[in-house]
Amino acid sequence: MNITICLSGLAPEPWVRGLAQAFPQAAVSVWAPGAPQADHAVVWAPPQQFIDEQPGLKTLFNIGAGVDALLQLKLPPALTVVRLDDAGMSVQMAEYVCHAVIRHFREFDGYDADTQAGQWSFRKPRSRADFAVGVMGLGVLGERVAKALQVFDFPVHGYSRSPKDLPGIRCFSGAPALPEFLAATRVLVNLMPLTPETENILNRRTLSQLQPGGYVINVARGRHLVDDDLITLIDSGHLAGATLDVFRTEPLPANHPFWAHPRITVTPHTSARTLREESIAQIVGKIQALQRGQPINGIVDQQRGY
Ligand SMILES: NC(=O)c1ccc[n+]([C@@H]2O[C@H](COP(=O)([O-])OP(=O)(O)OC[C@H]3O[C@@H](n4cnc5c(N)ncnc54)[C@H](OP(=O)(O)O)[C@@H]3O)[C@@H](O)[C@H]2O)c1
Repeated sequence: MNITICLSGLAPEPWVRGLAQAFPQAAVSVWAPGAPQADHAVVWAPPQQFIDEQPGLKTLFNIGAGVDALLQLKLPPALTVVRLDDAGMSVQMAEYVCHAVIRHFREFDGYDADTQAGQWSFRKPRSRADFAVGVMGLGVLGERVAKALQVFDFPVHGYSRSPKDLPGIRCFSGAPALPEFLAATRVLVNLMPLTPETENILNRRTLSQLQPGGYVINVARGRHLVDDDLITLIDSGHLAGATLDVFRTEPLPANHPFWAHPRITVTPHTSARTLREESIAQIVGKIQALQRGQPINGIVDQQRGY
């Protein structure tokens, strides 16, 4: 078995070591132009040249959950593309989103400002029932986030492509149900994949349908959100603010208005990082399952886009 590693902008050596240790009989190497044919590849943002030079690949393991950038490449239709599923990401995402929701709900930004001003001020408790959280995307990450939010007794809604039945979560599915989902939501959490159907889905029309005082948490992809529409709706007072982890251009350009906006919190695409050891273990487990002829989770449907 031949495994090749092609990780743009990341050190490949620990991945080579981890896979070589798990498969001592295999040839595990870092890809370079002209490298021999491999059976499996572990990739992050590979160039088209890599795909073109490896027509014999059976499986391509992407070391992230989102495959939107990968699917922009011209891939052989028969190639099995596998995403990381969870591998330590869902708990990080749950932490991040719960933190953002609670910080907003409990007005901790206001208390920070009071601290800066040396002011002992008290804010009236707000009603949790008025802060329904709507999670768009109930996949590996969204479901974990929705369940984590339930622990704090927020009303939780979910929106997905296909119908779901999750205890205690009001589930909406399919585009016709989107207006009802948005109207029932005050805090919107985006955890959908970026596909032609979901690009720009957070725009003036949809965000206007959130409850007054709505709040947006985008942890999926920057291209889901129309930046100017968000700013317009915050400045008009319809939305209370936003926490954004992902952007159309990353790093977020220094002159982008999000940086200085007093009601927008920016983090540098850090809500759920790929954890190397967990990811290597998951890929090893999947290669072993494939060797035994068993099915694996996390296979990407190239037509569907996720
Ligand atoms: N910021 C970060 O650090 C970070 C880290 C990891 C991932 N991400 C992003 O998070 C995204 C979600 O990850 P995941 O692992 O949870 O993905 P996933 O398991 O593929 O789940 C995607 C969810 O979105 C739903 N969905 C897809 N297209 C839809 C549409 N057109 N309308 C309504 N719902 C739709 C799916 O519906 P069905 O259930 O019906 O299929 C599914 O529930 C990734 O694609 C990536 O972009 C960000």
